[in-house]
Amino acid sequence: MQHILVTGGTGYIGSHTVVDLISQGYHPIIVDNQSNSSLNVLDGIKQIVDSEVINYSIDICDREALTQVFEENNIVGVIHFAAYKSVNESVNEPLKYFRNNIGGLNTLLEVMDAHKVNRLIFSSSCSVYGNAEILPVTEQTPLAEAESPYGRTKQIGEKMIQDYCQANGNFKAINLRYFNPAGAHDSNVIGELSLNPPTNLVPVITETGIGKRSDMTVFGDDYPTRDGSCIRDYIHVMDLAAAHTLALKALDRMIENNLSVYNLGIGEGVTVLEAIKAFEQVSGQSLNYQIGPRREGDVMSIYADTSRVIAELGWSPTRDINDIMRTAWNWEVKRSS
Ligand code: NAD
Ligand code: WQD
Repeated sequence: MQHILVTGGTGYIGSHTVVDLISQGYHPIIVDNQSNSSLNVLDGIKQIVDSEVINYSIDICDREALTQVFEENNIVGVIHFAAYKSVNESVNEPLKYFRNNIGGLNTLLEVMDAHKVNRLIFSSSCSVYGNAEILPVTEQTPLAEAESPYGRTKQIGEKMIQDYCQANGNFKAINLRYFNPAGAHDSNVIGELSLNPPTNLVPVITETGIGKRSDMTVFGDDYPTRDGSCIRDYIHVMDLAAAHTLALKALDRMIENNLSVYNLGIGEGVTVLEAIKAFEQVSGQSLNYQIGPRREGDVMSIYADTSRVIAELGWSPTRDINDIMRTAWNWEVKRSS
């Protein structure tokens, strides 16, 4: 049987992608060391798709262990999620991020090379754009100086893949630049379940709503935006998952070039205060928040031009900020009950 290897597959985006892959007839296997996820996620996946997914609890930096996974399975493509993702932590511990995010990718590429596995989808991030001046950002928008070591690992990761694609004409890769993923699977069986306390807006909102936090802070309402708060492009995790399956299919259609890059947002900016309003509407309760100072390093506004992914992958978003808040809230309520 042909398998797709999903690194980081028990993590947030990886687990939702595994569900989508199976629903589309693929046979994923997972490599995840559970550094930021739990093996219980595998039960959730099983409940949704009614089949077991094998997980190898190994570190992708462990070349021998990764090699064994490639030897034991007929792997025909890889979706590479496994990485650390905390912007703040990366500022304080950049070496940890270089080793895992850059070293892990390097080891993965070497093992793929040794086994002639020539299909890769890479989790990149809108953070590669840094503080973009012209909005929406297109894939041609020049990459600015990264705002953090984490963002730099994504810029370097993309470049490593580009260089390897140039050296190996048989290799085909797609770099997906996610904007702000949020929300949970409609079944309410899997969702965001980071082992570290969340700092992203949507889980901070739901944790405040449920009372895990007494209140939350909106980081600045004095930006020159329509209501003074920052603008982001929030994409539902299941729409994001579906894009990976479409990207896998697109790899086989790539003839002229062997590397593509796509923005993955919904193409609409939502302010922090609008996101809070959406939460209040779907949950029927008012949120305890106050306005605070701007957060250091925050970009005022960023959202995606999505015309390329729509035209070339045939993808389009089916959910908006209300769907994100509804599913994220259901997930929070379930986990807290
Ligand atoms: P996540 O932390 O939930 O998932 C990552 C998974 O990788 C975790 O399960 C973790 O245990 C695993 N992992 C980390 N290092 C590993 C290693 N060396 N070996 C094996 N497993 C390892 O994060 P996520 O939100 O699902 O993000 C997935 C990818 O998408 C990451 O590469 C992240 O940088 C990228 N991304 C995330 C966001 C976001 O806001 N969530 C936005 C843009 C890009
Ligand atoms: C969104 C907005 C905050 C928390 C990060 C990474 C980026 C990418 C996506 C991985 C901002 C505001 C937040 C709070 C708030 N991840 N906010 N109060 O900063 O756009 O991007 O996640 O690749 O690399 O940097 O996401 O969810 O932290 O913030 O007011 O308690 O919500 O100021 O405007 P961000 P976020």
